[in-house]
Amino acid sequence: MRLVLFLLAALAAAAPTGCYPLHRRQTATLCERNGYWSGNGYEVNNNNWGAESASSGSQCTYVDSSSSSGVSWHTTWTWEGNESRVKSYAYSGRQVARGNTISSITSMPTEVSWNYNTSDIRANVAYDFFTAEDPNHSNSGGDYELMIWLAVFGDVAPIGSSMGTVMVGEHSWQLYVGNNGGMSVYSFVATRNMNSFNADVKPFFSYLEDNDGFPAQSQNLIVFQVGTEAFTGGPATFTVSQFSASVDM
Ligand SMILES: *[C@@H]1O[C@H](CO)[C@@H](O)[C@H](O)[C@H]1NC(C)=O
Ligand SMILES: *[C@@H]1O[C@H](CO)[C@@H](O)[C@H](O)[C@H]1NC(C)=O
Ligand SMILES: *[C@@H]1O[C@H](CO)[C@@H](O)[C@H](O)[C@H]1NC(C)=O
Repeated sequence: MRLVLFLLAALAAAAPTGCYPLHRRQTATLCERNGYWSGNGYEVNNNNWGAESASSGSQCTYVDSSSSSGVSWHTTWTWEGNESRVKSYAYSGRQVARGNTISSITSMPTEVSWNYNTSDIRANVAYDFFTAEDPNHSNSGGDYELMIWLAVFGDVAPIGSSMGTVMVGEHSWQLYVGNNGGMSVYSFVATRNMNSFNADVKPFFSYLEDNDGFPAQSQNLIVFQVGTEAFTGGPATFTVSQFSASVDM
């Protein structure tokens, strides 16, 4: 069975919300639907955007540390009901300057190391990028969405249909192409789950430009994020011990 995934990312305009627990040294605790933190050029969002499709559950995201060289964070969740629907996409993002077309970007080096404390869940671990012709497009979508799924747990799959296996960088990926409303969605799914990734992701855009007519000269980068889409299961803890990213012109 192929289950459809709809990714509608965060409303990052949400004001920072957080409280500071006394018992752990954390930069922020985010339990509200769009609990948001930013600092040092990075941002973290609890982003429980699909929570209303759950019959029960909850999620909190914790910023563990941050510096100009990246951010570390974790999120704990339990979700039940509507197993084919995404409940959340808790993520860390690199804050990107607006008005940079994909073709003007020379490289997008990034690194992430992560762990899930259980595999008995329905979830992914994925990068998410939106691009749009309008440099001021809202960061909850775009004209195009490019996802890189580093891991898949349970019977979940990207939107669209599989175009087969492609090589980008040092890894092979199953490429899915589909649409979510007016947005074209490309998802590169790792053929084997990985728990760390360190690469330049610009070649994923170049692949789509060369093979599928992606208009790199008119599409501006809107968001550069990595996190986990939770469907059902838990309690589960997803820990990102390090995320860094940059956009080089
Ligand atoms: C599934 O999601 C729909 C739409 O959000 C909701 O109305 C319904 O109650 C959910 N079903 C369950 C079993 O929670
Ligand atoms: C984007 O927003 C900036 C700042 O408000 C504005 O100067 C610029 O004209 C806008 N660009 C477009 C294409 O709307
Ligand atoms: C994962 O972490 C959560 C939150 O701490 C905990 O409740 C759960 O028991 C853990 N699961 C496993 C399999 O260790």
